Amino acid sequence: MCGIVGYIGNRHAYPILIEGLRRLEYRGYDSAGVALMSDSCHLNIYKSLGKVADLERVAEKQDVTGRMGIAHTRWATHGEPSTVNAHPHCSSDGNLALVHNGIIENYAALKEKLAAKGYTFKSSTDTEVLVQLISYIQNQGNLDLLTAVQLALREVVGAYAIAVIDRRCPDEIIAARKSSPLVVGIGKDEFFLASDATPMVAYTNKAVYLEDGEIAVLHAGMPLRIVNLNNVECSHEVQIIAMNIGQLEKNGFPHFMLKEIYDQPGCISDCMGGRVNPDAGTVTLSAVSNFKERLAGAHRFIIVGCGTSWHAGLIGKQLIESFCRVPVEVEYASEFRYRNPVISSDDVVIAISQSGETADTLAAVELAKEKGAFIYGICNVVGSSIARATDTGSYIHVGPEIGVASTKAFTGQVMVLALLALLLGKEKGIVSEEEYHQTVAGLVEIPGKMREVLKQDSLIADFSKMFTYARNFIYLGRGYAFPVALEGALKLKEISYIHAEGYPAAEMKHGPIALVDAEMPVVVIAAQSALYDKVLSNIQEIKARKGRVIAVVTRGDTEIKKLADYCIELPDTLECLLPLVASIPLQLLAYHIAVYRGMDVDQPRNLAKSVTVE
Ligand code: G6P
Repeated sequence: MCGIVGYIGNRHAYPILIEGLRRLEYRGYDSAGVALMSDSCHLNIYKSLGKVADLERVAEKQDVTGRMGIAHTRWATHGEPSTVNAHPHCSSDGNLALVHNGIIENYAALKEKLAAKGYTFKSSTDTEVLVQLISYIQNQGNLDLLTAVQLALREVVGAYAIAVIDRRCPDEIIAARKSSPLVVGIGKDEFFLASDATPMVAYTNKAVYLEDGEIAVLHAGMPLRIVNLNNVECSHEVQIIAMNIGQLEKNGFPHFMLKEIYDQPGCISDCMGGRVNPDAGTVTLSAVSNFKERLAGAHRFIIVGCGTSWHAGLIGKQLIESFCRVPVEVEYASEFRYRNPVISSDDVVIAISQSGETADTLAAVELAKEKGAFIYGICNVVGSSIARATDTGSYIHVGPEIGVASTKAFTGQVMVLALLALLLGKEKGIVSEEEYHQTVAGLVEIPGKMREVLKQDSLIADFSKMFTYARNFIYLGRGYAFPVALEGALKLKEISYIHAEGYPAAEMKHGPIALVDAEMPVVVIAAQSALYDKVLSNIQEIKARKGRVIAVVTRGDTEIKKLADYCIELPDTLECLLPLVASIPLQLLAYHIAVYRGMDVDQPRNLAKSVTVE
């Protein structure tokens, strides 16, 4: 939540900051702002309610010169979205400007203390309190900015990634992190700073990911210096950013979401690359090779995640229980962390997170670690906080996901879970040679099957028009298709603002059926499976009440086709791999309905892609 960008060097800072904000808009987009140290040494601050494009309009005729600056795109926590609450925030004396991602939990007490000393506040944010605190400490002791930041942060309780500049030191940015991500990009005589590496990819591939408690001192033309709150120098490792600029563009698609839906066959091949050997019919995962005994010996798996990642976890449970015969619990990270869960050192906790930064998932990982569990991370963003906090893990390697509604990360997560479950089942001697090779063959065919499903895009777009009126949707599925139903409903809610519920199909009779009438669209995932006949009966029950059925069936189906109003066909797929193909038409359905309703698909209201606050 909230995106931070900074630049110091010899280039014109403003376009770099604006472009960087655009890349980070997925993190929040209710207001934006920029602070620039102008060529004539003025600290110019421009802010706007709304998106980065609105900020550009505000700054259009202003002085945007300068080779150093910081910028911010906001997702409101403390204080409504407004220009005055937008970052950067300034100290009362006008010397300091600061951008912040996170929450200062003790801001009320700090504010009271500063108010007693005569400080006044323009905004209702916790961030303004922090910049005033730094300013107070600095002015009291006549200190340099770094020392003032170090002392101020010692008083702060909460999470932060911050960047601060001082009008009197036009060649320095101080940046600090605790529980919110911050990356320093290293160029030639220049530094970039951002909440993730995307704003710097166009300029450098060298980056340092700050650790909690670290402060970066950025001086153009000088080496990067990293210290902690006690001013002890910290060693740091320069990493190579494995991302290219093409992955950050829409490449001709009208929205990132659609591009990412279409990316899936390629992403899933990348995810399997080096792991699945189609010729030998085998799977390897380095995490399993390195921790074979620990993983195969687990008495129980606990999967934690939020949102879409939690849905992937529900599929993971079925995969692991079926291939490994070990109990699996799936928990919302936000609930798990606060309910004193029973965890033992024989447990393996699997943390699933696209961003690797979700605050609740990270806290769940820390808790499980404290209790002695072994932690396996399934993340997309390389070097992210969760990826670094785990004992081992597997990246999903689907490339940057920019649309706020997760699509390719979901199928990537399911793919890694399938590989993990299959491999562990084999290790444990539960999966037979035959089942193993048959499943590997099924995995290899997935990208091709995804491509076949994508061919039905225009059919789905056509009938999506009929549903733009809907106020509610029900999604039904059983077994492996139940989490797919949940995820389909979430996609629709997120981007079209139509209320949608996912249910196990048989549960429909225990409540949701009361909602079914001629106005109610019901999406049923009814592919061939052991429970096909039962799902067929559910469809009959819906039709008997005049509900409108959109059925996702296996190609060649004749029974359901007679009943359903609209059908989407899937190629025949192993039942355990069904979510990998069945989720795609539901992503497309949500996408087209949202587009017909005129919604902002890539940046739906109130949401943010990376939820770094509780
Ligand atoms: C937010 C996003 C969702 C995502 C969830 C968990 O709510 O909008 O798309 O599923 O966070 O994010 P993570 O990065 O941990 O997978």
